[in-house]
Amino acid sequence: MSDIRFDGKVAIVTGAGGGLGRQHALELARRGAKVVVNDLGGSMDGSGGGSEASHAVVEEIKALGGEAIANGSSVTDDAGVARMVKDTMDQWGRIDILIANAGVLRDKSFSKMDLPDFEFVLGVHLLGTVKPTKAVWEIMREQNYGRIVCTTSSSGLYGNFGQSNYGAAKLGIIGFMNTIKLEGQKNNVHINAVSPVAATRMTEGLMPPAVLEKLKPEYVTPGVVYLCSEEAPTGCILTAGAGAFALARIVETEGVYLGEDGLSAEEVRDNWAKITDETGQKAYFAGGEQGQKFFRKMSGG
Ligand code: NAI
Repeated sequence: MSDIRFDGKVAIVTGAGGGLGRQHALELARRGAKVVVNDLGGSMDGSGGGSEASHAVVEEIKALGGEAIANGSSVTDDAGVARMVKDTMDQWGRIDILIANAGVLRDKSFSKMDLPDFEFVLGVHLLGTVKPTKAVWEIMREQNYGRIVCTTSSSGLYGNFGQSNYGAAKLGIIGFMNTIKLEGQKNNVHINAVSPVAATRMTEGLMPPAVLEKLKPEYVTPGVVYLCSEEAPTGCILTAGAGAFALARIVETEGVYLGEDGLSAEEVRDNWAKITDETGQKAYFAGGEQGQKFFRKMSGG
């Protein structure tokens, strides 16, 4: 099999001034892509800012013989995102890949969380994925080519104490992906998500150094690079950490048809074992498949 290459392709990586994004940007550039290194700078809770981080990664890419430009816009700033996309088009004339990776944390248990902190985190992750995607969407559709990788988290897929804001945003990204994967298919625009685990400033202090040593961002990046490639699937959630990779899916059980006559809460209770029986459970590619199942079951199928 041939190597995965990105010669002639242009990528935007958000939040690429450090951590996972930096690693994704370096690897795309190493494989021939021209890369826009976006990062607002600032601390992990989203305060402050500065363009040193993105410039430093651009210098690293150039030192490898690659091409890159730095961009210091916030992914939530409409004008900044529009400028980033315009600058990219002016410079290189196309955009093939978007990795929506930028993120912040403002952890607190829900009872202690102020709504502004909830909204802020929701905004950076969810709208900070939607806005760059919107800005490149028509370009990718017109090119009949695009690969988008967004970044979710086990906190969104499964939950994590103290991260209701972050979890809501991260699963919101999956809801967004689930629909635009359908809308992008006709024009060969594929969108997938990565759910990483990696030692970055987001996770330092959460685990012992010996564990963090096994969780280098570079052990996640190969999965992301595959999702940026021409062979990428669409609509997948790839979990990745420590060199392990798996697919996460939302599944639905086959369930049971209880009929119309005498339908009651008690009947639901009494059939709970059948409703939750995992035999034959399935992941659907589109919402309509669920309705089709209901009608099939109604007709005795
Ligand atoms: P990180 O803090 O090193 O990287 C995030 C980057 O995003 C920072 O460089 C930051 O300056 C930038 N950023 C923040 N707000 C921005 C904005 N409004 N506009 C542009 N850039 C902005 O953390 P890490 O771990 O590399 O995180 C990358 C992504 O992976 C995030 O979306 C995070 O939620 C996700 N993730 C990370 C996990 C991990 O184990 N490290 C686990 C699950 C998800």
